[in-house]
Amino acid sequence: MKILAIETSCDETAVSILECAGDEAAARFRVLGNALLSQIDLHKEYGGVFPTLAKREHAKNLVPVLAAALEEAELLREDAQALPHELPGKLGELLSREPGLADALIEFLKESEAPDIDAIAVTHGPGLEPALWVGVNFAKALATAWKKPLVAVNHMEGHLLSALAEEDGEDLSIRDTGLPLLGLLISGGHTELVSMDEWLSYRLVGRTRDDAVGEAYDKVARMLGLPYPGGPEISRLAESARESGRERPAERLPRPMLNDSTCDFSFSGLKTAVLYLVKDRELSDAEKEALAREFEDAAAEVLVKKAMRAIDETGAQTLALGGGVSANAHIRRVFSEQILSLYPHVSLRIPKAAFTTDNAVMIGIAGYYHALREDYADPESLRADGNLALARA
Ligand code: KG4
Ligand code: ZN
Repeated sequence: MKILAIETSCDETAVSILECAGDEAAARFRVLGNALLSQIDLHKEYGGVFPTLAKREHAKNLVPVLAAALEEAELLREDAQALPHELPGKLGELLSREPGLADALIEFLKESEAPDIDAIAVTHGPGLEPALWVGVNFAKALATAWKKPLVAVNHMEGHLLSALAEEDGEDLSIRDTGLPLLGLLISGGHTELVSMDEWLSYRLVGRTRDDAVGEAYDKVARMLGLPYPGGPEISRLAESARESGRERPAERLPRPMLNDSTCDFSFSGLKTAVLYLVKDRELSDAEKEALAREFEDAAAEVLVKKAMRAIDETGAQTLALGGGVSANAHIRRVFSEQILSLYPHVSLRIPKAAFTTDNAVMIGIAGYYHALREDYADPESLRADGNLALARA
């Protein structure tokens, strides 16, 4: 089955095409085409993602990104097409809130044959709602033009299921997934532990009570005068402190909720503790590095301890890390070392670095599992939902 997947929940416009086979016991995916345009440089000057700008950029970029993905997949057949006469009007209606996108899409459809794909998967939440809507409406328009079924994908489910994928020759494969699967989802908007007791059925085990860990990274980076997104910047400083072999700073940061009896997190106290340390002070480079390292040590310690508590509570056989923060070198190391030594029976899955941040391959992977169950979305009622939850307690 060929799936075309679309992701526009935040600041990446991404389209991918996957050839998918197999089932929940063993699935294989071949990435036929994968195109992505990052808006990070545009948002940098705002110190974060600016929703109306994100929406406008997605609308501008979707057709070129789609064409690039199809071209790479060798599914782009340029040939003049006579569109059904009612189609342009329908597409204009579906895309009425995305100026320019309908015209660009109609031009594209006039010049290229419908590609050989079986379904269209699209992120419908969570994320920035104006950004999500562009992708959702674009997917509806393509589904209408090409008469293909739609699959609505939860962005966090994409992070979680794609974390299970292992490189297998030219393919990606997901197999031998021992359940329950515990997912630690760590991104700019989320910090949660979810248990998948059966395939595609999720239960919330723990979550942050305030800031997400990625948000804390981004805010601490800003306090240290570093650009957005702050995660990779903090990581760079912290790694350089570790490599320099310097002692830790005298100031130890708190490990919020480390020893309480839940699997919940809190990161706002950690962030505020950093704020007090940097307030009205000019930090040297070495002090900044030391502070970044201590912040990272604190965040990683809480994440791994809570994940271990959640393994104990759920009897997890597999632990998967997903979301942008799982790109973090220190967090990856801490999990690899501690889970391997303390929970040798648990299979740890950490996505390869390219899959940690937002992309459409992960949406295609999650979309495939839903398409297998013919869990298709009704194009009339499909909506973007910025607060879409993956799991409830
Ligand atoms: O999953 P993602 O790309 O977007 C959301 O769905 O939020 O995650 C973005 C978050 C940002 O907070 C960013 O600072 C963080 O992931 N991040 C990192 C690293 N790379 C990205 N945090 C720590 N270390 C990194 N290397
Ligand atoms: Zn994400």
